[in-house]
Amino acid sequence: MAEHPAYPVGLRLTGRRVVVLGGGQVAQRRLPALIAAGADVRLVSPDATPSVEAMADAGEITWERRPYAEGDLADAWYALIATSDTEANTAASAEAERHRVWCVRSDDADRATAWTPATGHSEGVTVAVLTTDARHRDPRHTAAIRDAVVEGLRDGTLVAPHRRTRTPGVALVGGGPGDPDLITVRGRRLLAEADVVIADRLGPRDLLAELPPHVEVIDAAKIPYGRFMAQEAINNALIEHAKQGKAVVRLKGGDPFVFGRGMEEAQALAEAGIPCTVVPGISSSISVPGAAGIPVTHRGVAHEFTVVSGHVAPDDERSLVDWPSLAKLTGTLVILMGVDKIGRIAETLVAHGRSPETPVALVQEGTTAAQRRVDATLATVAETVVAREVRPPAVIVVGEVVGVGPHGTA
Ligand SMILES: C[S@@+](CC[C@H](N)C(=O)[O-])C[C@H]1O[C@@H](n2cnc3c(N)ncnc32)[C@H](O)[C@@H]1O
Repeated sequence: MAEHPAYPVGLRLTGRRVVVLGGGQVAQRRLPALIAAGADVRLVSPDATPSVEAMADAGEITWERRPYAEGDLADAWYALIATSDTEANTAASAEAERHRVWCVRSDDADRATAWTPATGHSEGVTVAVLTTDARHRDPRHTAAIRDAVVEGLRDGTLVAPHRRTRTPGVALVGGGPGDPDLITVRGRRLLAEADVVIADRLGPRDLLAELPPHVEVIDAAKIPYGRFMAQEAINNALIEHAKQGKAVVRLKGGDPFVFGRGMEEAQALAEAGIPCTVVPGISSSISVPGAAGIPVTHRGVAHEFTVVSGHVAPDDERSLVDWPSLAKLTGTLVILMGVDKIGRIAETLVAHGRSPETPVALVQEGTTAAQRRVDATLATVAETVVAREVRPPAVIVVGEVVGVGPHGTA
């Protein structure tokens, strides 16, 4: 069997019986793909890992709690033999051979009639990598090739630009908090396909340097017009470029819909009849505290977290935040755009009942090389911000969670 290469094929298993023998780690790893393929999976095993058991409880597979018995493979189209009992595995693969059922064996690939390739998926394509024959079997090698191909497809480096199926219109992409590794796979792929990128000041600016020279990068902060025209000017730029048939990415910091004006842009595009794809991003409101060792919730400490904008002071009539009510909450308060107003905010929280000793952390330029954390309390934060020269962008965390992790002040 080892002398000829394996013949690659895609099995269409929808509604077809697949028998899995053994409910251990191998089954746990293989079952999700069999379920996703729509197979009628019957597991035969005296025991199973909790994850496999959960699949049975959820009705995704049927589970017969007993050891393998002769005849189990009679009505199978495909079998996965993965028990810890070599004798049972040998008997089952002999039965599979008799019934002409293709079978994978986890304990002895040489004796199996089928091999599971290393697989990965990207936008409608399944990549499956097999070694040519048994002598060259090295699962790490096939997995590494799979990873390289899938990564190349995802970031657009593997497919020549003219072969790509481009997403029409504008993609509003949440770029995450700043570290270029913290954008989503989909966001990164759309960026690789873009002709025009309109980027904010915050977000993964380093990714812009990787774009090929033909890509037009527009700095949203530098779009002309007065302050109040800026958003309209950005909307117009998006619409104009999309109308020219270009693939446009609007790259935003964090998530487009968390204080990101993403919906205003989506609405403007809808009014102009331009298709819009929204790609969520990792919001700084959770990730920046996390990067500085602060969980926004912690068992026994905080059962809620509230994210608020601090861009207008509590006594400003334009404020939509009910600060007195927030002061009565005991959980975590995460304040974005609040560095300038933190003195007034802290005063208001204390005036309405929050303890002046409540810990506060300010995390500046989180997830970037310049990340910096400064700790204070509600009583001291106003003077600390000045003394330590904390500057935007910073996420401010108020609450006992500030003290739960290993931390230090920077
Ligand atoms: C206009 S809001 C946009 C928020 C963004 N859409 C998000 O989901 O993270 C900008 C504010 O987000 C916070 N912010 C964003 N990125 C940050 C980072 N890397 N470090 C600290 N704060 C950040 C700051 O409070 C900043 O003033």
